[in-house]
Amino acid sequence: MTSLLHVVGARPNFMKAAPVIRAARSRGLAQVLVHTGQHYDHAMSESFFADLGLPVADENLGVGSGTHAEQTARIMLGFEPVLDRRRPDWVLVYGDVNSTLACALVAAKKSIRIAHVEAGLRSGDWSMPEEVNRVVTDRVANLLLTPSRDADLNLTREGIDPIRICFVGNVMVDTLLFLRDQARSLEMPKRLGLEAGQYAFVTLHRPSNVDSSETLDELLGALEDLGRQMPVCFAIHPRTRQRIREFGLERSNGRVRWLEPLGYLETIGLVERAALVLTDSGGLQEETTVLGVPCLTARSNTERPITVTEGTNRLVASTRSAVGTAIAEVLAERESGRFSPRRPDGWDGRAGERAVEAIIQRSGGALPPIESRS
Ligand code: UD1
Repeated sequence: MTSLLHVVGARPNFMKAAPVIRAARSRGLAQVLVHTGQHYDHAMSESFFADLGLPVADENLGVGSGTHAEQTARIMLGFEPVLDRRRPDWVLVYGDVNSTLACALVAAKKSIRIAHVEAGLRSGDWSMPEEVNRVVTDRVANLLLTPSRDADLNLTREGIDPIRICFVGNVMVDTLLFLRDQARSLEMPKRLGLEAGQYAFVTLHRPSNVDSSETLDELLGALEDLGRQMPVCFAIHPRTRQRIREFGLERSNGRVRWLEPLGYLETIGLVERAALVLTDSGGLQEETTVLGVPCLTARSNTERPITVTEGTNRLVASTRSAVGTAIAEVLAERESGRFSPRRPDGWDGRAGERAVEAIIQRSGGALPPIESRS
């Protein structure tokens, strides 16, 4: 029987692994779940396990925070003996966080098959740690399971043999569609005293936005301006909370609610009924596209361009004035009824099943070759 070892570590991994684990269970595969402990606060980890119905991790490496080198090295050191003990047929890594790269490297050196779920995304921005993680993980993974057609193109352009690439669609959307009703039943807007369609939802955590006091100050100014038009729910990531404190940027503003990081269901429950979302998250760019909610992404590039070309997303510079202008445009477009998003191919709730099928099909015989054509 084919055996899988799933690696998760940080918040965005959990909703990607859940549908694949569910699909593998229904096909009777043996599975082990390893949590690296990259994220460890209840609100960043356990609450997601509960919301998503994930099984308790079989192993927790407890690596915690640190510099990129420290964190990546600690994950590798912790993961190697686990892999030696478990010896799965496949290691499944998800997304683009440090846990993804670290465990892919360990598995590659042990010649254990690696499947990368959400392969092929590229922002072209090498200053993002995630871009390094994506490119290197794809280089060493045997099976590249892609969420959108542009990802296939990125990989073939890099000279990767198409035999390693398999388009399966977006696993994060599986989770969204699976839990959408449950999220709705929380009645989050009502619980927060908000009117559906009349408030904004905001998250910001990218180093490029929150690690510079000037940029963070500009963005907090933009939230203040937005708060004059409608109530704003600002769910604050621990990194952002720390920086706000460090830079002395705390401010009190009745219409901007500063919230702790929210659980998955709470977030989806709020996003679905928001007038607009302002974010720098990768996942929210996709979730807003599926939910048909306008999204402004405070970044100069995105590894998810399909959310712009087919979905509800638009990029905006991280300045108070650019965000203000974009918000006015989005709200006007929404009023005029010109807003008509589409859902990309393969974002249909079945991507996890296709990912497991692809793995099963490639489980006999020789490893897909890693050599690229270039
Ligand atoms: C990581 C991912 C990023 C992802 C994000 C989602 C990498 C390189 N980055 O960024 O791609 O979008 O997760 O959240 O893997 N902290 C806590 N509690 C926690 C976790 C973190 O307080 O449970 C604080 C720590 O001070 C830490 C800081 O947040 O230093 C940043 O955490 P880290 O995991 O290094 O990066 P993220 O910004 O969360």
